[in-house]
Amino acid sequence: MNVYFDNAATTQLDPEVLKEMMNVLENKHGNPSSIHSYGRQAKAMVEKARKKIATHLNVSPSEIFFTSGGTEADNMAILSTVEDYNIKHIISSQLEHHAVLHSIENLVHKGKVTVSHVALKKDGHIDLADLENQLKKHQSSLVSLMHANNEIGNILPIEEVSELCKKNNAVFHSDTVQSMCHYPLDLQKIKVDFIAASAHKFHGPKGTGFIYINGSRNISPQIHGGGQERNMRGGTENVAGIMGLSKAFETAYKHMKEHAEHIQHRKSHMIHRLETELKDVEFNGDTKGNSLYTVLNVMLPETDDYEMMLMKLDMSGIAASAGSACSSGSNIGSHVIAALGKNIDRRPVIRFSFSKYNTIAEADFCVETLQSFYSSNAKAPVKAKAAN
Ligand SMILES: Cc1ncc(COP(=O)(O)O)c(C=O)c1O
Repeated sequence: MNVYFDNAATTQLDPEVLKEMMNVLENKHGNPSSIHSYGRQAKAMVEKARKKIATHLNVSPSEIFFTSGGTEADNMAILSTVEDYNIKHIISSQLEHHAVLHSIENLVHKGKVTVSHVALKKDGHIDLADLENQLKKHQSSLVSLMHANNEIGNILPIEEVSELCKKNNAVFHSDTVQSMCHYPLDLQKIKVDFIAASAHKFHGPKGTGFIYINGSRNISPQIHGGGQERNMRGGTENVAGIMGLSKAFETAYKHMKEHAEHIQHRKSHMIHRLETELKDVEFNGDTKGNSLYTVLNVMLPETDDYEMMLMKLDMSGIAASAGSACSSGSNIGSHVIAALGKNIDRRPVIRFSFSKYNTIAEADFCVETLQSFYSSNAKAPVKAKAAN
């Protein structure tokens, strides 16, 4: 059985998305910047896609800019805001994706900003009282806090955070890569300045995403070129990718409730079987509270042979993500699990992440594969790499 439980890393392309993209690739090769009919047709498609996304997010199409994905959108929000708003301090968290963490580190390294990390609660949620204190201390700063964590699934109370930022005159960026198209976002209610999205996390193509820039904010581009995206992002538009993104977006919104129930059911089933059938299983993050229904981060029982366990999953056809803090103090390991400060010595940490395509039989097969491993294991240290 082949089981793909790594949907937070990337998802399978929806066949309808592929169909849409193939139609563009085969029949609509115009450059949106050309003024002839081919170009106008391509331009019209890109603008239709922009409008569709804007409508679902309850914003103006002029606030959506297509990018090469989440990383570019995160970089643009952070780097451009620091330059254009003369930001001297960034408030963020240790749980951010590397697209945010490394962008900020780079600015700190160049001496352009200082950074402070918001305190975390035991379950990995942001301590809002600490955020408020930091906002008061560092007025007019940039806040970058992700909406949903890609490793442990915790969800930020984004509306509350946006109010705090507004009250303290801070610019607010939120990486919504993992929550986009899994939860409805009404950007008239959430007072956010920038959000980042990536199509390949919701059954769209890789290398396509977008940034939302609140109309009241004025930032300059990071990529200069032919004036595309209303002078905000140079480079010929990835028309097929944008059409794939738009189709994936539309499909996800149309079936959001039904997919959420389907996926949550698989996740709950897996939690139940792991809890009842394997000794000493723990979950990282707020698994049963405010957490992504797509992500389950499991701390498995101690084992002598961690590498063998990963190999067993892989050889059994199960794709999941290994992410654990490194107990030996080297820098291999997940910064997210490390930030939670858990003692994971000799305990494998695995992220299972689900999609609409997963079945109960797959969850059962996965639990049974783990059971079969634990019925014959020995002890060894845990080392693994951070998840995407
Ligand atoms: C939370 C988060 N932010 C940003 C990214 C980067 O997105 P992309 O792969 O489109 O560059 C990812 C992808 O792993 C992610 O999970």
